[in-house]
Amino acid sequence: MKKPQRFPPIVAKFPHFLHGGDYNPDQWIKWKDRIWKEDMRLAKLAGINSLSVGIFAWAALEPREGEYHFEWLDEVMGMMAENNMIAVLATPSGARPAWMSQKYPEVLRVNSLRQRNLHGERHNHCLSSPVYREKVRAVNTALAERYKDHPALGVWHLSNEYGGECHCPLCQEQFRKWLKNRYGSLDALNEAWWTAFWSHTYTGWSQVESPSPLGETNTHGLNLDWKRFTTEQFVDFYLHETAPLKKITPSVPCTTNLMGTYPGIDYFRLAEVLDLVSWDNYPQWTGTDNDIGIGSRAAFMHDLTRGLKAKPFMLMESSPSATNWRPVAKLHRPNVHMLQSMQAAAHGSDTVQYFQFRKGRGASEKFHGAVVDHEGSENTRVFRDVAAVGERLKTLDAVIGTDTPSATAIVYDWNIRWALDDIKGLLQKNTNYEETVINHYRAFWQLGIPVDIIDSTRGLDGYDLVIAPMLYMLRPGFAEALEGFVKKGGTLVTTYVTGYVNESDLAFTGGFPGPLRKCLGIWAEEIDALYPEDVNSIEWKGKSYRAFDLCELIHAESAEVLGTYGSDFYAGRPGLTVNRYGSGKAYHIAARTGPDFLGSFYAWLAKETGIKPVLDKPLPKGVTAQVRSDGKTEYLFVMNFTPEKAAVDAGPQGKKELEPYEVWVTERKAP
Ligand code: GLA
Ligand code: ZN
Repeated sequence: MKKPQRFPPIVAKFPHFLHGGDYNPDQWIKWKDRIWKEDMRLAKLAGINSLSVGIFAWAALEPREGEYHFEWLDEVMGMMAENNMIAVLATPSGARPAWMSQKYPEVLRVNSLRQRNLHGERHNHCLSSPVYREKVRAVNTALAERYKDHPALGVWHLSNEYGGECHCPLCQEQFRKWLKNRYGSLDALNEAWWTAFWSHTYTGWSQVESPSPLGETNTHGLNLDWKRFTTEQFVDFYLHETAPLKKITPSVPCTTNLMGTYPGIDYFRLAEVLDLVSWDNYPQWTGTDNDIGIGSRAAFMHDLTRGLKAKPFMLMESSPSATNWRPVAKLHRPNVHMLQSMQAAAHGSDTVQYFQFRKGRGASEKFHGAVVDHEGSENTRVFRDVAAVGERLKTLDAVIGTDTPSATAIVYDWNIRWALDDIKGLLQKNTNYEETVINHYRAFWQLGIPVDIIDSTRGLDGYDLVIAPMLYMLRPGFAEALEGFVKKGGTLVTTYVTGYVNESDLAFTGGFPGPLRKCLGIWAEEIDALYPEDVNSIEWKGKSYRAFDLCELIHAESAEVLGTYGSDFYAGRPGLTVNRYGSGKAYHIAARTGPDFLGSFYAWLAKETGIKPVLDKPLPKGVTAQVRSDGKTEYLFVMNFTPEKAAVDAGPQGKKELEPYEVWVTERKAP
């Protein structure tokens, strides 16, 4: 395990949790004398010390082309400075004013059917358009010039939730340019994409088009490269957007708010250019036992987000109450708001921020949870919930910048997700890569064992245990990295569907798991996909565990067989193996299994590999313990994700009966 360290606070001059969130004073300019002043009073009462402003405010900032109006924002920034608040200041590119779309239709996106969108919605812009890029550069420059020395300015919030894709002629040209650069020759592209299939061979670069239901969807290499290109488009757009900010305000950190496992962008790649990572978390709490699943999923998302840069992150948005776009906008049960907020801190967030501060009166988000309701006062349950979080965060300054030490890493890789989502074969649309990775993660969450989430590009140094569920695609260098890790004494766990294809989605020849065959000591000859009503089992240590969906028929070559299939024509064949390789061990789980197997297996494996849970005593179902540490002091977060009371034994820190959804924060000396 790497030695825990202490990172600097997100805003150097402000060593406290940022507590606040999206604030849209531009929707209230007409009523500013009454509303804005009241907002400041309410923010203080709620313990809010930061507001994110200017997101989607382009029409207010530049109502007519080239005519900037900063007076209103000057006033807002001034109020924030007077009240010692940190501004998370946004660039407005998430939505553009109507005049721009009308005068320059090229700024609007084109969908995969090659239809240009009308003006409207948000996130509806072409990333290649020179006009859009110029407008963005100009407004960002003006913003940075105006507020470069402003005492409130703390963080730049770039645009909003980058996403989608554009298929316009300008983007097609960019795509071709990117492909030329990647492959050098059409011949190399044809080979990587296996285009002899169905006579898809390209004989000129101009024949290459982005995937479309009207054209090509079956060339997997093309689909993958389009996703990679789209990621690079966002990287490039982000660099374009930040260029003036970096020049004018070099010491102000830049981020853009991410969305967990949003499939459209490889966040591990995008994170390389961000100063810090932030994300928007909207779990669908139910008030029932299902919250164990919801809570552990949210935990995974936090750990994934933190893993993008391996340092503390920002919880940029969360709902203090109902989330209006969910099919059922259920209220947070008592304690849930505190739990959701502390959970972020437990997993490495140094902020708790909301969407949004004050509820707007119109349009589609008028019934989204907010700190200040339409009613307008501090006398609401939600406001009190938020104020309680504000109070508690004030006691947690020492947690700011602390690390989240972990000896275990789980691999989640966007490239694998793209390839598995696209697969024809196995279970097609139910291949469930994301759910599978989360199910493996959940076993550790329930054991109270902290986990880092990494992808194939991140190093394995410092880990004792690496789990790589459904490692379908082996990206360049990763098989070698895993081999090296095991040789040096690490423990690796892989599952069915490992080592089938290379980075172009071309199947490995010479037997699966391809380049990992020696390390895992197995040959996966075939894989059986089961109907939902089919059952099989893995027999391990005298117990029978359900096996379903996907059962791989493997041969133990140098591996030892630990578990076997219970039925069907492959009864008795290996279902669980271990291969001693160098000074380490490589395990392979041949079939999809449920929480019973994953829970028992990982509890056993953690003991085998000497990985310690945060607390020695087992945790009740739905309760987890996570830790933040600076190497001297450990801050323990013990969290109950169930609507029932739960008794926890924290050893020297004492015993405690947690109320439904309660969070207990306590300290101990680091080992
Ligand atoms: C997203 C957006 C916000 C808002 C919220 C509502 O996260 O970034 O602007 O629409 O959803 O939940
Ligand atoms: Zn475009």
